[in-house]
Amino acid sequence: MRRKLAAGNWKMNGTAADLAELEAMKAAAATKQTDVLIGTPATLISRAVATAGDAIAIGGQDCHTNASGAHTGDISASMLADAGASHVITGHSERRVDHGETDAIVAAKSEAGYANDLTAVICIGESLEEREAGQTLDVIGTQLAGSTPAAATGANTVIAYEPVWAIGTGKVPTLEQIAEVHDFMRSQLVERFGEDGNAFRLLYGGSVKPSNANEIFAVSNVDGALVGGASLKASDFNAIITALDEA
Ligand code: PGA
Repeated sequence: MRRKLAAGNWKMNGTAADLAELEAMKAAAATKQTDVLIGTPATLISRAVATAGDAIAIGGQDCHTNASGAHTGDISASMLADAGASHVITGHSERRVDHGETDAIVAAKSEAGYANDLTAVICIGESLEEREAGQTLDVIGTQLAGSTPAAATGANTVIAYEPVWAIGTGKVPTLEQIAEVHDFMRSQLVERFGEDGNAFRLLYGGSVKPSNANEIFAVSNVDGALVGGASLKASDFNAIITALDEA
């Protein structure tokens, strides 16, 4: 009932030369049922949209809470939409850490996305210290409640669980740990949003690679992945798309 979603996050990587990778991903995505999304740098969005056509959705990696104004260097959700984006990633841990984004700011950015018909991919995840202190579900519950706006629906929002300690480190939680968090997020969403809580797609993110994708995609309530490093090359990302499609 929930469509699968393979999402890539190019972070601060990608210039015109990398559109060739997108072209190669498009060829693979076009043959699959799985939805595919790439969050490119803002500078590449319009060219990525032209390259990807209908086969791959293109998203921004952040947006400002305001629609416009004196915010040098920032990008609004309406600008992302104007460039052709259909999604915006909000609350990535690198933004929470590098830019001090709180749950309330992440919720406001997600709302700015909704106002421009962008689907929000809201990221949450515990730090290593929090996991080791046994606080994971408390942290996830707080971040999920605070970062997800009241206006969120299964149609306008995707939730990505990304343990901070698993991002770019090669470390991955056990399948039991992923299942525990994903089942918990599902129950929290159903408690808050009723039956529509079952419609939100839940992605796992953090060191997803072709070699571990199959086992992660078999986990309960994992509807896809948010992939950083392994989304930069079509050879890796296409294998992840295939693994998800066949899961
Ligand atoms: P990674 O990043 O796949 O390189 O660990 C995931 C993310 O930050 O979205």
